[in-house]
Amino acid sequence: MTPPTPASHSGREASGLRERYRAVRAHSLALAAPLSAEDQCIQSMPDASPTKWHLAHTTWFFETVLLERHATGYRAFDRRFYYLFNSYYEALGPRHPRPQRGLLTRPSLDDVMAYRAHVDAAVEALLGTADAAGLAAVVPVLTLGLHHEQQHQELLLTDILHAFSCNPLLPAYRPAGAPPLRLATQAPPAQWLQHPGGRVAVGHAGEGFAFDNEGPRHPALVQPFAIQDRLVNCGEFAQFIADGGYRRPELWLSDGWAAVQSQGWRHPAYWLAPDDPRLGEEHAAHVGGWQVFGLHGVRPMEPEAPVSQLSFYEAAAYAEWAGARLPTEFEWEAASALPGMAQLAGHVWQWTRSSYDPYPGFRPLPGVAAEYNGKFMVGQLVLRGGSAATPEGHTRPTYRNFFPPAARWQFTGLRLAR
Ligand SMILES: [Fe+2]
Repeated sequence: MTPPTPASHSGREASGLRERYRAVRAHSLALAAPLSAEDQCIQSMPDASPTKWHLAHTTWFFETVLLERHATGYRAFDRRFYYLFNSYYEALGPRHPRPQRGLLTRPSLDDVMAYRAHVDAAVEALLGTADAAGLAAVVPVLTLGLHHEQQHQELLLTDILHAFSCNPLLPAYRPAGAPPLRLATQAPPAQWLQHPGGRVAVGHAGEGFAFDNEGPRHPALVQPFAIQDRLVNCGEFAQFIADGGYRRPELWLSDGWAAVQSQGWRHPAYWLAPDDPRLGEEHAAHVGGWQVFGLHGVRPMEPEAPVSQLSFYEAAAYAEWAGARLPTEFEWEAASALPGMAQLAGHVWQWTRSSYDPYPGFRPLPGVAAEYNGKFMVGQLVLRGGSAATPEGHTRPTYRNFFPPAARWQFTGLRLAR
């Protein structure tokens, strides 16, 4: 067998990348498919963006970071889009104010779809013509763009869910069949798993993609600790509510209690009390219990389902009530390899007690992407794991998600430690 020539090697790499590019881009469109043009234009709060904006902004990222810099002779679809769809990159110029993204009835959804097709064609042309040296320069940028788009795929879902939660009709993003008849089953008690502590290695190293904020890998000292093998579920959280959890200041951090008072929090963001006026006749069969609004619309609260849409403050108050605490992000990562650990990803992101800080020796990505993560490392907390809305294969045990402590429109919950 003769070793592959550089040309055939780059050809295979380009073809694999093209397939991956097509799959990720198509998934964004599939997520938007159940939504009307009106749905895709709405912005329900400054933190959430319209679906149409997500579809355009992820395209802008490829256009600006990849095509403008690596595709000779690339012609922009519409130069005005640089202003409209820049999110927060100071180095790339001024931008439309974030809280006003919902005002962009123009460009139309059709125009945004044409924009996506224009950029997709240019990316495919770039992959089709790049030589080995060109590919070596393109691959890291294109890969970052794909992981970036996957992050926005989750935001697309959490943001439209927030918008729908503000609509008295409480529409289902994706209607499911009638809820199954549930027997009064008890969730199995959570088990405490022991970790001996000591010097543990934290962070990403080696092959495979990781964001800059996951490195460098470094040693961290953790004390012996215990962590629960599963997430806190809705049935357990309902006990916290029934025990006056939202009325007892001694359980709350000062800022959390202030949020309870000022925001009127009485339960997780998308829970509906039995007397909620938005509940219609179709929910009459479940009178008397909590209802939970989600991507499938309003459903009876499932006691064994992981509790979701919690702020850090609510997670911390629950842990205090339960006689436990939240794990640090280093404990979470070290414990992720323990036998018996369940529900690490695929349900809810898990708040940790760790502030989102740079690891020792952290260096932001070079060039434009330097603004991707590093400049947000203040005033936020790290979440670990991954949620039901996270694209398949997007996360790792070293993955660091982050949100401000009062954020409660994401799929966020908790796991206890002590
Ligand atoms: Fe972005």
